Amino acid sequence: MSKIAFLGAGMMGQPMIRNFLRGGHAVTVYNRTLEKARPLQELGAVLAATPKEAASGADVIMSSLTNDDASRASWSGPDGALQADLKAGAFAVESSTVSLQWVSKLSELAMARGLRFLDCPVAGRPDVAEAGQLKVFAGGSAEDVDAIRPVFESISKAVMHVGGVGSGISFKLIYNVMGAIQVAACAEGMHACEAAGIDLAVAAEGFSTGATGSPHVVRHSAYMAENKHEDPVQFSGRMRIKDVTYGISLIESVGAQSVLGHATNKVFGQMVDNGMGDLNDSELIDTLRLVHGKGRDGS
Ligand SMILES: NC(=O)c1ccc[n+]([C@@H]2O[C@H](COP(=O)([O-])OP(=O)(O)OC[C@H]3O[C@@H](n4cnc5c(N)ncnc54)[C@H](OP(=O)(O)O)[C@@H]3O)[C@@H](O)[C@H]2O)c1
Repeated sequence: MSKIAFLGAGMMGQPMIRNFLRGGHAVTVYNRTLEKARPLQELGAVLAATPKEAASGADVIMSSLTNDDASRASWSGPDGALQADLKAGAFAVESSTVSLQWVSKLSELAMARGLRFLDCPVAGRPDVAEAGQLKVFAGGSAEDVDAIRPVFESISKAVMHVGGVGSGISFKLIYNVMGAIQVAACAEGMHACEAAGIDLAVAAEGFSTGATGSPHVVRHSAYMAENKHEDPVQFSGRMRIKDVTYGISLIESVGAQSVLGHATNKVFGQMVDNGMGDLNDSELIDTLRLVHGKGRDGS
């Protein structure tokens, strides 16, 4: 069993930590707001005041944090994990959805401290994380990915080795741009149905059972039809913009295009403009109603 330092006890971090504890690992947790991590203490986690304290002597240092700024502060800030008394050959694992640029820099910093670096962003919402069923897109050497697999057994049954360092986050960003496009398309399609006088329950059933029925469309069209969204918020409009912005930057840096990515950020930007950026991404339909002169419930 491994000694794991986990940075970030948010909606994704908490279920991952619980599963590592269930798997018999020793877990030390750092969360910027310490109080939010308190319930994990009762399950056997040790709480640390700084990432540096958490990472000292760990076999695996893993993070699940909002964005580049949060990751930078937690890994390379003054009290960051990379300032710790590190165990030679330990793993540094970034599982947050951050930019390729930052992952490249972080991998250099971690390797310079003698760590083995893997970018391992995850796919699946908090309920999937709780069930230990996340998909992991791993970037790193085949040897390192194989070495970390037994630890990841606790959080995932599907660790996909994408390629070398940076390829896990590259794939995840492209995957999330495609996902965000589908959610935006679902909101536009459902809103257009409503405007055309089509019952939204009928529309959701039609989209979900036809060729349009990706898991995103199945899930989100149901929330939109019921006008009932996840509580607490699972993935916000603002987080969609974060992912798509990093994704577009990557896609364009490799000489490809993201016309649909730009359009998707424009519609999620309308959520932010309407003061709804921190609501569930499925509430994009409410923003479209407001933009087109209706009430949030379509009336
Ligand atoms: N939610 C999903 O469905 C989902 C699915 C797959 C991947 N992801 C990715 O997983 C990562 C975590 O997402 P989440 O849903 O768990 O978000 P979350 O619940 O908002 O948690 C974010 C975490 O980042 C910390 N944080 C934010 N800014 C910080 C800063 N400047 N310095 C240090 N810590 C900071 C927060 O600490 P505080 O508690 O102090 O705020 C919290 O621990 C993100 O990269 C997200 O894109 C999310």
